[in-house]
Parts: sequence; C-alpha cells; structure tokens
Amino acid sequence: MIKSDYFNLKFIDEKLVFINQVLLPHSVEYIETEDYERIAKAIEVLEIRGAPAIGIAAAYALSLSQKNGISSDSFSRAYNRLASTRPTAVNLFWALNRMKKLFDEKFPAISVKHLYQEAVKIHDEDIANCDAIGKHGLEIFPAEARVITHCNTGKLAVGGEGTAFNVIRIGYKAGLVSFVYADETRPLNQGSRLTAFELGMNDIPFEVISDSTSGFLMKQGKINIAITGADRIAKNGDTANKIGTYSLAVLCKFHNIPFYIAAPTSTIDCSIENGSEIPIEIRASAELLSLHGTLLAPLGTKAYTPAFDVVPSSLISGIITEEKLHKPPYCF
Ligand code: MRU
Repeated sequence: MIKSDYFNLKFIDEKLVFINQVLLPHSVEYIETEDYERIAKAIEVLEIRGAPAIGIAAAYALSLSQKNGISSDSFSRAYNRLASTRPTAVNLFWALNRMKKLFDEKFPAISVKHLYQEAVKIHDEDIANCDAIGKHGLEIFPAEARVITHCNTGKLAVGGEGTAFNVIRIGYKAGLVSFVYADETRPLNQGSRLTAFELGMNDIPFEVISDSTSGFLMKQGKINIAITGADRIAKNGDTANKIGTYSLAVLCKFHNIPFYIAAPTSTIDCSIENGSEIPIEIRASAELLSLHGTLLAPLGTKAYTPAFDVVPSSLISGIITEEKLHKPPYCF
C-alpha cells in the first residue's frame, strides 16, 4: 500500500473538505463544499460516516447554512434536513442541538462567524477526546493482546485519531498489542475497506476476517480482547454499534474474553434509560444484495438490513470515554 498522510474532515477558507469514504481504499479523493445540502447527502450515503464525524460535519453544515445571512427559518430548515440524515448515532443530534442552543441564545445578534467558531470548537474537542480515550484505554490490555474490532473507528470516523482504533493504536505503540483481527463488517465493509486501510497506514500487524470467523478464532485462543466503538450509549450502558457487534459481544461472553466499548461522552444519550429506546437505522436492501452494481441474490429477493444492533450492558467489560474507563454497573 502506498502510505501518504490523509485526513477526514477539515474546515478551510469557510468550506468543508472531506475524504470520500465510499471510494476508499483504492482512491483517496477529497470533496470540497460550502453547501449544507451536499454535506447532508454525504452523511446519508456514507461518504462521511462514524458517529463523531457525522456530528462534526453536521455542525459545520449547519453553520454553512447561514453563510448568506442569518435567518431562523433557514436555520430550522437546515437543522431538520441534517437531523433526518441518519437516526442512530446520537452525536449527530448532540452537535446539532449544541449549535441550535448557541443560535437561540444569541439570535438575532448571532453571526455566521460565531457558528463557525462553535463548529470548530466541537471538532477540536473531539480531537482532544480521542487522545484522552487512547490514553485511558491503555488500562484494558492483557499481556500480548490479540485484539478483535468491528467496523471502523479510526481517523475516518472521528475528528481526531479515533476511539476504539486509537486505543488499539496507542496500545500497539506501547508494546501491549501484538495483533489485530478486523471484522470485514458486512454489508458495507467498513472493516475490510477502512479499518484495513488505517491499520496499514499505522503499520499495525493485522488480518481481515469475515464477520462469521471470530468464534472459530476465539475457540483456538487466538483472540484475548475485543474493542469497538459506539453510536449511542444509554444511561444503563446498553450500546448501539454497527450490526454484528451484539453477536461479537455474545461470542466474547461465551469464550470469557473481555469486550470493551470506546466512545466520547457525546455518544452517551442520558435521555434514554436503556437500549430498547435506541432508534435503529434500516438501510436499503441493495446495500446487502448487490456488490458494485452486480446483484448477488435472485431478482426480487427481500432483505432485512439493520445498520446497527444493541449490546446489553451486561456483556460490556468497560466503557472508555475521555473522562476515564467506566466499569459496570454503568450509570451515566
Ligand atoms: O454506518 P457507520 O459506518 O457510520 O457506522 C459506524 C460505526 O458503527 C462505528 O463503530 C461508530 O460510529 C463509532 S465511530 C468512532
């Protein structure tokens, strides 16, 4: 793989520049826009993805919606449009509500510069949160950790260096992690396309496995810790993450392998008691039934395509946030 540095999101000259994740890993291309609708579209089609990154991009988008003049009508329109893009990652709503609070408090004296500054602040805080999560995560590793992870939680999913991915990255640098198994993460392959790309960029030894291979590896004693990110964490610690995370956590329990979550506190939704209240996004059937436009199943086949599932807190050994490593019982 050719190694060159890459970034996820940057706000340059009052435009959002973002990597087009749909084209990764074979093509590293950036899109530059000052159009909030283009950013909303990018979130819907997963050109921008990962819970913290969605929130940051939406904050920039909402500020850009006011670049031609402040108007509470156009602000509400942009807010509603951005809020409609993806339902599960609470970071989206957290960031939008933070922007709205500022808008409402300062209106009509609010300027677009205030909004840009708040979005940059949200972005900068996420960078610092990733660093803190990585450091707190050092506590979790057994000797010679052989880690499994699911989906993508690196630089591509956040504003900084990652959540679960950064724990692994810092653990590897500290000599605590010896090998990583990356679930391919069907149907959109965030593991084989994006996590493999980021592990390669960081020279971390790894293999991609199909999502159904982890139990076989656990039985052979080849995995001794699991760590994933999160899209929404309820007050009791129940955690929504990419579809397949629940199965992974159940397998870990059966094999007595610790299962950790890493996420910033902006992923914790204190308005819900438990995971049954988390809205689960259902994606288009074509994402499962087709590959690069080629149909994989008989014409007319129906598919059930939830994008996320919920891991009950009883299966979670610890939740790493920028504050600390939280241990059960969770009470956020
Ligand atoms: O559908 P995606 O790719 O946005 O799903 C992403 C995940 O499930 C991640 O694990 C989660 O958002 C955490 S990202 C730090």
